[in-house]
Amino acid sequence: MNRRTIVVANWKMNGNLNLVEEMSKRLNQVQLDESVDVIVCPSFPYLATMATKLTHKNVYLGAQNMNAQTKGAFTGEISTTMLQEFAVKYVILGHSERRSIYQETSVEIAQKVSAALNSGITPILCIGESADQRTAEQTETILAAQLQPVIDEIGIEKFNEVVIAYEPVWAIGTGKTASPEMAQATHQYIRQFLSANNTEIADKVPLLYGGSVNAQNCEALFAQPDIDGGLLGGASLKVDEFSQICSTVKGS
Ligand code: PGA
Repeated sequence: MNRRTIVVANWKMNGNLNLVEEMSKRLNQVQLDESVDVIVCPSFPYLATMATKLTHKNVYLGAQNMNAQTKGAFTGEISTTMLQEFAVKYVILGHSERRSIYQETSVEIAQKVSAALNSGITPILCIGESADQRTAEQTETILAAQLQPVIDEIGIEKFNEVVIAYEPVWAIGTGKTASPEMAQATHQYIRQFLSANNTEIADKVPLLYGGSVNAQNCEALFAQPDIDGGLLGGASLKVDEFSQICSTVKGS
């Protein structure tokens, strides 16, 4: 199965107008393998400016969160209809920071995934275990418990339009990347879990790895058969490194 390779930049609460300018300029020039897509997810205030600057046909704009409601009295929240006005094609949902700092549950995340799909925005659904959970050999149970509510909410067929990012919490922002073999084994498990519901869909879903990915380790990780690209935090804020990663990544 040939799946597209996807590189996502998750700026988190970092960056400024200067980075928007510099990153857009560089990405507009970047040479991408024809099966590679790049998605840049800056903070909300920068979406409008970035939407006017990105011109590369395979570089897309993404948001880092959204509300499941389309409008109403939800002070401080952002709806899918607002995101659509700024050419946002993707949205990161269920990032471990949203799950742990803002207590988002897998059921709430599933509702957001559904709302994103209903408005034509592709969800990038993040899942991953903590260090303690891995040590206790609970990784598979945790991943299944994060995925199942989404399957229950949208149905397995809709995963056709979902990107999944596996991000072990212990590898995020720590410099401790999962080894390519460990990441591959977990990605294989995720694909098998989906496959138990629908083999064809499981084969098609892009599975990204996230957690301390950088220019040195990305090639070995992305070369794994079940890893279809990455979700990058720290490295996505560095114009030279991020553009280098995008241009060296090969499609499957
Ligand atoms: P990191 O972040 O690349 O800085 O580890 C990844 C993420 O949290 O998406």
